[in-house]
Amino acid sequence: MALGSYIELRTFLEVICLLIVMNLTSLSAMSKIAFFSTQSYDRRFFENSSDAHHFEFFETRLNTKTVGLASGFDGICVFVNDKVNPEVMKMLSEIGIKLVALRCAGFNNVDLKAAEKYNIRVMRVPAYSPEAVAEHAMALVMTLARKTHKAYNRVRDGNFSLERLNGFTIHGKTVGVIGTGKIGQAFCRIVKGFGAEVIAFDKYPSEELQKPGITYKSFNEVLGASDILSLHCPLTPDTHHIINKDSLKKMKQGAMLVNTSRGKLVDTSAVIESLKNEHLGFLAIDVYEQEEKLFFRDLSDIIIRDDQIAQLMIFPNVLITAHQGFFTQESMLEITRTTLKNFDDFEAGVESDNEVSCELIKDC
Ligand code: NAI
Repeated sequence: MALGSYIELRTFLEVICLLIVMNLTSLSAMSKIAFFSTQSYDRRFFENSSDAHHFEFFETRLNTKTVGLASGFDGICVFVNDKVNPEVMKMLSEIGIKLVALRCAGFNNVDLKAAEKYNIRVMRVPAYSPEAVAEHAMALVMTLARKTHKAYNRVRDGNFSLERLNGFTIHGKTVGVIGTGKIGQAFCRIVKGFGAEVIAFDKYPSEELQKPGITYKSFNEVLGASDILSLHCPLTPDTHHIINKDSLKKMKQGAMLVNTSRGKLVDTSAVIESLKNEHLGFLAIDVYEQEEKLFFRDLSDIIIRDDQIAQLMIFPNVLITAHQGFFTQESMLEITRTTLKNFDDFEAGVESDNEVSCELIKDC
């Protein structure tokens, strides 16, 4: 080989080596994050979204069997049905995980006491688009009230009859809201726009909300007076099965129950019983008690062994969507932006408003 070519080749190899070393160095300085419950849209939004962090995407849910996948990472990024219970938290700490970042607002699936014990930071996306969830709740109400889901199928089938499509008007009805935080407040604003009377119950009522004419009442008063009852409180030990056999009895005959918050707020057996007895008039749910076995998956070719959802699916006055309240373009952009900021704050070791801990929240 001529000397010139030899020098050129050597220089080229030296540059390559330097680039590899630089890359390895920067990779080791980056936080390495393992994503669980990854859907194609998570990958689309997060992949190539940051040069400062290294991401690995796993489709599997996080649990005691899959936690090993997080080995070698600094943090994990999870969604609503990943179980970060004390056992998983202990295993995460043993493999050196220092961050649990939620791609959602609710954090009922994360054991905060265990996080504190093992010194693992927990961050979330507190508000990506409260309006997205509130608008979805209203879409469910309107669909059931005007039977547009049935009309759509009927017209496509060449059936233009109005028989059995008679609905009801929302204007003038009483709408009860349980939990008047960000989503509950957005829902109240929408409902007011329809000319409905809005009453609400919240463990910590908002003074601001009372001004535009929303009346706070006791939980039982709201149950008894609502034509439509919409749940917007978080799942806590306090709110688990907040809608049960007793509370359903206190609701108006023929009322509509809407749950876009968390499935376990509602005792599904009691709701099925109430629908069968024709006491509960309508049910609209975006969340379901046993949803972790079903939601976010295509099971269209599989026998569904969950008898309760199977039963709910055949009631003509029940509408189910599979946890899509959050799912708008705007929300996904905000979830990505806030989650990246959470990774940056974790990497920099600085405090964050998006942190959740026993110290910071009221119900731990
Ligand atoms: P938030 O924290 O802003 O509001 C929650 C409200 O519930 C607060 O005003 C709080 O005082 C109240 N509350 C707490 N305990 C209560 C109790 N025992 N009884 C009555 N009210 C109580 O939360 P945000 O952002 O409004 O979200 C609410 C819930 O919506 C989340 O916890 C989550 O479970 C659910 N969610 C569902 C989504 C979906 O895609 N379907 C997406 C995002 C959130």
